[in-house]
Parts: sequence; C-alpha cells; structure tokens
Amino acid sequence: MEIVRSSTGAIFNNAAQAFNHAFFFNCLVPNNKTVEIPVTLQNLIVKYFGSVDEFNNKFIQAATSNFGSGWTWLVQNNLDKGLSIINTSNAGTPITKDFNVLLCVDVWEHAYYLDYQNLRKDYVTEFMKHIDWNFVTSNLK
Ligand SMILES: [Fe+2]
Repeated sequence: MEIVRSSTGAIFNNAAQAFNHAFFFNCLVPNNKTVEIPVTLQNLIVKYFGSVDEFNNKFIQAATSNFGSGWTWLVQNNLDKGLSIINTSNAGTPITKDFNVLLCVDVWEHAYYLDYQNLRKDYVTEFMKHIDWNFVTSNLK
C-alpha cells in the first residue's frame, strides 16, 4: 500500500495492479461455494443502497459502464464511513484517495474475454455469485 500511495509512473502502475489483483482474488470464494452476507454488512448495504438487490444492480451497472480497462469498487469513505460504488481506470485504485476498499472486480477485458467475450455484464453478474462476503466484511473500519 505504501508503494502504491507514494509512487507514480511505471512503479505506480505495477504496484497498483499487483495490489488490485491480489485484492480482487481475495474477494472471490473458491470452488463454487457461496458465502452469505453477514448481518453487519447487510445492514450497511441496506442503509446506503436501499437493498441487497439494489446494490447488486448498481454495482453491475457501474462495472458494465466503466469505459475501457479498469476496476469497480465498493468503498468506505474514511471521513464518514459511508459506503459507495466507484470506478477507476487502468491501474487506478481508491487507496490513493480517502477510501477504504471493501470489494472490487477487475473489468479489464483480459479478466473475462476468454469466457464471456464482450459480455462484461454477464461476467460481473456471475462474479456477484462468488463473492467472499466474509472477506468484504473484514475490510470494514
Ligand atoms: Fe486483471
């Protein structure tokens, strides 16, 4: 995190992509298992997005409309601890801003093209079924 926050150019790109990918893989649950959303996080999702379904729709919509290569994130604002969904481009990562990261999905084409071709929405919809919500919840501050 320190390198990501303090570097620019090629060092930033490599460090940030390493961080983003490691974080993304931690968000996934292996072997088609499913993890229920813990009540603590569910209550926050309802508070900030209305319902879990609303959150899913908004997250999928954000990921689908993130133009070009990038990442879609569920983040917690470090100031008021509120949750929101944000997109970053290329190696961009919210940890360089005032956000605590909770969840992310890689929407670079390489992440889904082999299985989904250009159907990014289908890829993200499937991703939502394999989230390790315990990991996401463990990131709350
Ligand atoms: Fe990637």
